[in-house]
Amino acid sequence: SNIDIKSKSTKERVMDILSNSQEKYISGEDISEKLGISRASVWKHINNLKKEGFDIESRSGMGYALKGKISNNLTPYEIKKNLNTEFIGQNIEYFETIDSTNMYAGKIANKSPEGTVVIANEQTKGKGRTGRRWISKEEEGLYFSLILKPEIAIVKASFLTQLAGAALVSAFENMGIDAKIKWPNDIILNGKKIAGVLTEMSAEIDRIFYIVIGIGINLYNENFDDEIKEKASSLLKEGYKVSRKDFLQEFFKEFEAMYREFLCDNRNEVLDILRKKSAVIGKEIYVIDGKKRKKAKALNIDSYGNLEVRFEDGEEKTVFTGEISI
Ligand code: BTN
Repeated sequence: SNIDIKSKSTKERVMDILSNSQEKYISGEDISEKLGISRASVWKHINNLKKEGFDIESRSGMGYALKGKISNNLTPYEIKKNLNTEFIGQNIEYFETIDSTNMYAGKIANKSPEGTVVIANEQTKGKGRTGRRWISKEEEGLYFSLILKPEIAIVKASFLTQLAGAALVSAFENMGIDAKIKWPNDIILNGKKIAGVLTEMSAEIDRIFYIVIGIGINLYNENFDDEIKEKASSLLKEGYKVSRKDFLQEFFKEFEAMYREFLCDNRNEVLDILRKKSAVIGKEIYVIDGKKRKKAKALNIDSYGNLEVRFEDGEEKTVFTGEISI
């Protein structure tokens, strides 16, 4: 895969100038001279920054000023500051509101560099697995999608869902939170679901165009719909207050390290985490086969991330994730 180390964009430079002269007005002309760009271009970047949630005031004759408080800490500017990765999260598209970050990522994937992330403060049509909805109210959670373009065989692609799960629990662990993975891709805390992964792929029979890994995390939710009340929770409900920016930086770093290893065919660290942090190994589970549910014991996760189970009649079977659609 290609790894580009991106330098600061013009928009980021505009932001730097504004934040360096916090509160004080700086004229469009000064900014345009400092950066060697036109006034119109300064104006365009300022408008984009406003859309990202920055509180920038414009006054004729005076210029622009960044007001004391940044309205949220989820902007690309904030996330990319001190971000310790080479490509994951180095290109970010942020939306105050969008239908679904996965759907949008699918639309821009072909022309976007690997590692591009689409983040939204709110989703109006958040998608869960198997056609379910993912409730995505503003500022309650983290909703984002990662674009990947690995040159790998299609059979290996489903492992990326597992890898995302491992990176999620590692990021949580770095923040002192002991989350578990309910195979294949639910993240569990104190027995309740706090996050989910939806992986979608566009491919031909022998070639992957792109993979979109969508992640939704319940951060500050207080209430859940009746049908999921018993099974779902948020980090806040479980006693943790997590900043979206801090978490993303932690996650991007973990994901990138694991993804690099994966591309070199080394899955050991991820498998280690999947087994150590499994919420199902050794437990009684049900394997859903069409309309039937069959009781089984979860034995282990094999070296490709598939689940080995034993049914009550002694028959053993490997269960695959099989979630590759778009
Ligand atoms: C699940 O059903 O457990 C998976 C939920 C995945 C939700 C995330 S939120 C960001 C991304 N965009 C979507 O529309 N869905 C995923």
